[in-house]
Amino acid sequence: MQSFPQLVFSGVQPTGNLHLGNYLGAITKFVALQETHECIYCVVDLHAITVAQKPAELTSNIREVTAAFIAAGIDPKKHVVFNQSQVAEHAELAWIFNCVARMGWLNRMTQFKEKAGKDRENASVGLYAYPTLMAADILLYRATHVPVGEDQKQHLELARDIAQKFNNDFLADNPEFADGKTFFPLPEPLIQGPATRVMSLRDGSKKMSKSDPSDNSRINLADDADTIAQKIRKAKTDPDALPSAIEGLAGRPEADNLVGIYAALTGGTKADVLAQFGSGNFSTFKSALVDLTVEKLAPIGVEMRRLQADHAYIDGVLRDGANRARERAAATMMQVRDIVGFIR
Ligand code: TRP
Repeated sequence: MQSFPQLVFSGVQPTGNLHLGNYLGAITKFVALQETHECIYCVVDLHAITVAQKPAELTSNIREVTAAFIAAGIDPKKHVVFNQSQVAEHAELAWIFNCVARMGWLNRMTQFKEKAGKDRENASVGLYAYPTLMAADILLYRATHVPVGEDQKQHLELARDIAQKFNNDFLADNPEFADGKTFFPLPEPLIQGPATRVMSLRDGSKKMSKSDPSDNSRINLADDADTIAQKIRKAKTDPDALPSAIEGLAGRPEADNLVGIYAALTGGTKADVLAQFGSGNFSTFKSALVDLTVEKLAPIGVEMRRLQADHAYIDGVLRDGANRARERAAATMMQVRDIVGFIR
């Protein structure tokens, strides 16, 4: 396989209520990757409309994700930040990929089965084709590395299958791609460690989720200091003291989750946290966690709310990012059209 220049691409859906799980699981990874890679971060509004959205809420949610990116430290001047719908090439390449991907491949996607539920006949065609659009997002820039959560691994494998099949189907008889030269790279996942899987504050067996009816189950990035403190104080725990070794967290999902959050926020391990707080009173640890979380998140929340309200600024960032993304996307599509045999 030939080597492609390293490029990071990832997408976040603008679905509202960005929370600590999104922050630790995705956004902090995006921030760190800026130091070592060229990065493109996309607010995937075309993916959002695969399920019903209220237009005004969608608009506001696109600005929320953008504001969160910037407040958390993503630099939209050094890297590219934009919303997907402003670059029409995403939808165009997705169509071509709809003709490359096989029904059998998409039928195996577990996320579609979960999201469509029992009433599959009533799911949108877009929800079914969601993974081909995701493949287009990545391959439009010929990105090589994709930071995603565990739940997106299957979609990324599909993107690799699509890239491979496109290369196989279209390049074999093309003299420009002799000697095994390929067009699309096979993008690799950068999967987050299990330590950053943030669970609900009310039930340690469920993921922290934007759709949990209890707002106390999650810490929203937009929460103010008092709200953050209150939610952590109220977080479910068990009556025992903290263990001094990780093994002692087995069967204690709530304690495990809080220790994991502390570790992730300090950039340390759970073992580090237990070395500091183990065997001590749970309430001592909880107070420290309140202080730490407020210290790390509250300033981001303040900045995020300020940016989110500045529509001219946020929309300007997205427009500028889209212009830069479009230039690269258009260059790829020129070649794709030639490869497929279209006239331009
Ligand atoms: N499906 C991803 C999610 O829900 C979002 C997404 C869309 C994405 N396109 C992408 C992630 C491209 C990585 C790369 O999390």
